Amino acid sequence: MTILLLAGSGEAKEIATGLAALNLPAIASLAGATRAPKQLDIAMRIGGFGGADGFRRYLANAGIRAVIDATHPYATQITNRTAKICAEIGLPYLHVLRAPWVTQAGDDWTEIAREEDAAALIPKGSTVFLGTGRQTLDRFSGLIGCRVICRQIDPPTAPFPFEGGEFLIGRPPFPVAREKLIFAQLGIDWIVVKNAGGHASATKLTAARELGIPVLMIARPASPVAMRVDNPVDALTWAQSL
Ligand SMILES: NC(=O)c1ccc[n+]([C@@H]2O[C@H](COP(=O)([O-])OP(=O)(O)OC[C@H]3O[C@@H](n4cnc5c(N)ncnc54)[C@H](OP(=O)(O)O)[C@@H]3O)[C@@H](O)[C@H]2O)c1
Repeated sequence: MTILLLAGSGEAKEIATGLAALNLPAIASLAGATRAPKQLDIAMRIGGFGGADGFRRYLANAGIRAVIDATHPYATQITNRTAKICAEIGLPYLHVLRAPWVTQAGDDWTEIAREEDAAALIPKGSTVFLGTGRQTLDRFSGLIGCRVICRQIDPPTAPFPFEGGEFLIGRPPFPVAREKLIFAQLGIDWIVVKNAGGHASATKLTAARELGIPVLMIARPASPVAMRVDNPVDALTWAQSL
């Protein structure tokens, strides 16, 4: 019987490595959002399951005995659906959710509930750095009269969805010094990010703090009622206890 690891975060990579080291049969699932994902240390499948029914079929056909959901904190559809289905069919489910970032002295953050709220706070003529990914880009179309720069890993396959926008291609890691250089060279006035948490992508917040750039922080979505840990070590302890 196999553990299904819903991947798509740094934690998922660590959990995959740990599951392999523990010799626990497991398969990692990626949505297919990144064009050339790195091979994890366990078997992988790539692409959606085909909705809730497809997911139920997959669980049965693949002999899944438990699910570790280590998707991104803002991947709400997959998390809510998986928690619900696992509860319905009595399949052990663990949500791995890293702690959100919190402000430090020198930060200038404003929390917003939705991407669309950015337009009311960012003045016309600003240069805006979006660290929010391309999937939600059209929600920023109210930023009229701004230069909007969206960083993404893969080269774009479609034009920017609104006027004044441009893509910046970059693959992490982004050390603080590099972030500061990029923000200074681009003349960034505002940064918009999701409260993803974790160390790897906190560098842009450190850079913002050190450069005195204000940040709009999109609030964390609500999480389902479920068994939850905030780190890979605890997730592996849970997997061993099954
Ligand atoms: N949202 C973000 O800001 C963000 C940032 C970085 C990485 N990611 C990662 O990118 C992926 C997609 O994120 P999202 O926000 O678009 O997800 P989402 O809105 O929660 O899910 C949309 C659909 O994508 C498919 N899907 C999502 N995660 C999957 C996985 N691990 N394996 C197989 N199918 C998956 C499912 O399709 P079906 O209905 O066909 O099963 C799901 O219904 C996630 O794995 C997430 O961890 C997201």
